[in-house]
Amino acid sequence: MKKQLLVLLIAVLLGFGVNAQVKSTETNVLVLIYSQNGGTYKMAKSIAEGIQEYPNTKAILKRVPSINSKEKLTAEVEKLPIATIDELANYDGIAFGSPVHFANISADMNSFFSQSIPLWTSRALEGKPATVFMSAGSGAGKEAAILSFWNILASHGMVIVPTGIMGTATLDKTVPQGNTPFGATSLAGSTGTRPSQSELNLAKEQGKALARVASGLKNTENIKTVKTTSTEIKTDVYKMLKDNNIVLPEAPKPVGNYVPYTISDHKVFINQVALKDGKILNPGKVGATVTDDQAKEATYQTMLNVIAVLKEACGGDLNKVKQCVQLTGYFNTTPEYTQHAALMNSASNLTALVFGEKGKHARATIGAVSLPINSAVEIQAVFEIE
Ligand SMILES: Cc1cc2nc3c(=O)[nH]c(=O)nc-3n(C[C@H](O)[C@H](O)[C@H](O)COP(=O)(O)O)c2cc1C
Repeated sequence: MKKQLLVLLIAVLLGFGVNAQVKSTETNVLVLIYSQNGGTYKMAKSIAEGIQEYPNTKAILKRVPSINSKEKLTAEVEKLPIATIDELANYDGIAFGSPVHFANISADMNSFFSQSIPLWTSRALEGKPATVFMSAGSGAGKEAAILSFWNILASHGMVIVPTGIMGTATLDKTVPQGNTPFGATSLAGSTGTRPSQSELNLAKEQGKALARVASGLKNTENIKTVKTTSTEIKTDVYKMLKDNNIVLPEAPKPVGNYVPYTISDHKVFINQVALKDGKILNPGKVGATVTDDQAKEATYQTMLNVIAVLKEACGGDLNKVKQCVQLTGYFNTTPEYTQHAALMNSASNLTALVFGEKGKHARATIGAVSLPINSAVEIQAVFEIE
């Protein structure tokens, strides 16, 4: 029993942990790469060195997952921790590194960003400094590739840090170099050792430049408070649902002596399990009979049910929602299970996607010994409405 209480406490702490910002007086800069053959990784190490040289600044080196899980990466790259899309919001700045693939960024990095819609709609990366570096073969299309990466960062409202002419005074001009005014690259396909010392120097300068901007912005007032209201778009929930092909189910009917929701002082209280078409989706115990992917699917379905009930509570108009106040996820798990927060992200991401800024919520996740009708998940939700 004591052990279960401990697991429960850890799960709650983990649940809160996911939404918590990395709170530190230190400036935390993520160096996030995809690298198959290690060229981008070598550049990343110099970027990280430059970041660390800046006072009171820490570089954290991670990679995005490969689209093809069987793909062979170099041993050093394979060992890097894999970043989740949600954690991008937790850093003070991010340096993105990718190989040049067909004058563009790698499909793996692109695929990682395709999961960033909740961050985009909630404007979680807005005002955060970012920079781009790359590893190329011959260098064909390297500048176009950096600029196409910039398109993504601009869409997120990030502050892009270019390299300009920094480091060019020390450039060895007797051999081709990967310098660009947008970001450092390496010409891995050229003769000689690559990245060249000049390319590494430039990457280091770039890291330092990013750290300087990240550090400066961190020490100004909270960037969230300087958002201009003129860009504040009122989220149309129905447009978000349509644009993302989300079809709300019918609100499940109560199966006991209770009501699907209550409203008290403009707050709506809702509890749902993973019912789909009258049956529980992926029932059972996570960590034993239910896989993480199945649990995530059940969590997504449960949150859809919550939103369907919420729609009824709003008299059919979800645009009356003012804020998702709190979500609590209960997961039917084995005592050893610890990934509750990752499962609950399915519900949190859906909420952020549908409600935008109003979808930001406090959250707890809890492991349970069992749940009603063998559902793998139950969600308690509190929303504020007009
Ligand atoms: C599918 C594919 C497309 C590529 N397209 C280009 C290109 O357009 N221009 C270029 O200079 N190099 C190109 N390359 C070469 C890579 O950019 C180069 O090998 C790079 O150093 C790989 O980085 P990595 O070692 O971090 O994986 C391509 C490589 C692959 C696999």
